Amino acid sequence: MEKVTAIVLGAGSRGNAYARYSLERPDELRIVGVAEPDGARRKQFADGYGLAADACFESWEEILDRPKMADAVFVCTMDDMHTAPALKALQMGYHVLLEKPMSNRREECLAICRAAKESGKALTVCHVLRYTSFYRTLKRLIDDGEIGQVQTVDQIENVGYWHQAHSFVRGNWRNSDQSSPMILQKSCHDLDIISWLIDRPCLYVSSFGSLNHFTAAHRPAGAPDNCMDGCPHSGDCPYYAPKVYLTGKTGWPVDVLTVDLTPEGIAKALREGPYGRCVYACDNNVVDHQVVNMEYEGGVTASFTMTAFTADFTRQIKIMGTRGQIMADMTKEEIRLHRFGEEERSVSPKETAADGFGHGGGDFGIVENFLRLVNGRGDNLTSAAASLQSHLMCFAAEKSRLEHRTVSMEEMISG
Ligand SMILES: NC(=O)c1ccc[n+]([C@@H]2O[C@H](COP(=O)([O-])OP(=O)(O)OC[C@H]3O[C@@H](n4cnc5c(N)ncnc54)[C@H](O)[C@@H]3O)[C@@H](O)[C@H]2O)c1
Repeated sequence: MEKVTAIVLGAGSRGNAYARYSLERPDELRIVGVAEPDGARRKQFADGYGLAADACFESWEEILDRPKMADAVFVCTMDDMHTAPALKALQMGYHVLLEKPMSNRREECLAICRAAKESGKALTVCHVLRYTSFYRTLKRLIDDGEIGQVQTVDQIENVGYWHQAHSFVRGNWRNSDQSSPMILQKSCHDLDIISWLIDRPCLYVSSFGSLNHFTAAHRPAGAPDNCMDGCPHSGDCPYYAPKVYLTGKTGWPVDVLTVDLTPEGIAKALREGPYGRCVYACDNNVVDHQVVNMEYEGGVTASFTMTAFTADFTRQIKIMGTRGQIMADMTKEEIRLHRFGEEERSVSPKETAADGFGHGGGDFGIVENFLRLVNGRGDNLTSAAASLQSHLMCFAAEKSRLEHRTVSMEEMISG
């Protein structure tokens, strides 16, 4: 395979998650530029990937104003900053690895699909779960007919109480006015994977959910705005910030707070940044639990639950077919296949060469596949077109939740 060169827009968690591939396989990928407004992050990224000062820029606009300088662009900025850089990069002749959601606006998702098709370049949407050995194994079992014809799928996303507090109460995705509704930001992965497994057009979507717990009404008496200011509930509040961040660990999510990962640096970030805030005193508005029901062509149904209120941080799925069932847990890497009339057996999800990168190997697998596409090989498993249905389903689910009615996908497609 020819070595691919790439520039990264947004050197945050995701920019680093994909760029890391170049350190593992330097013969396949070289990072040659970065755009990042945060000086400390930009410097850390430049040091990590050996970038000279003239390869570092403060914004995506600035780097894309320059003549084309690589084969590919990794768009890893926040949700509402995906469309413009993706369209510009395609226009300039770059291949594009685009973070999900493609956009938080339906019309922009459609525009990205059109532009990707017209450009003739590879555009891969980062639905990383499709590249995990776990979900690939489930897909293979279904496609091999192990459980007959799929009739029903049930998936639950156990967000985890601390993860909800980190990302969706205190952090980047707490407020849909500034990012995306939770069903789009977090669970577009789930509606995508369910649809991929069922492999039929979705016809109808209905959804319920709300922000019940992380509100001012549940703030205990005397709790200060910031946990670091002597909260009297530090002992019994599971969301007390030092319990989450001052544990001695420095990986994700702690590395989101600051580049200074000493205890003093983390404590400073808690005092001064958003992550030390009392979870009952934030400007959050996204749901803390939501359910979605889906009807697919041929009467196949699916249901999905996303909830903050779990100790585990995993996805669990049950797939029910005419000849058997599969029950599986992603974090435990457990897949149990029970063909009707036979003994249940375990199946090992070890199908790809994916290693220990994030998302069950998906972060590694998606870059590997993308680089093949840039070299003119392989299939684009998560092209814009392939990702569109699940994005539209997320918009439908949010509409249904807010309007208390079933939404037809026809309505979402025709607008
Ligand atoms: N595929 C997945 O599984 C997955 C997981 C988490 C997040 N995401 C998505 O990835 C995206 C990034 O999330 P993240 O966790 O890396 O966030 P982040 O905040 O860590 O990174 C975003 C970076 O973009 C930078 N930025 C802001 N304005 C910019 C500009 N004008 N030009 C260039 N960079 C700019 C920010 O300073 C920040 O460092 C989001 O859209 C998110 O929804 C995807």
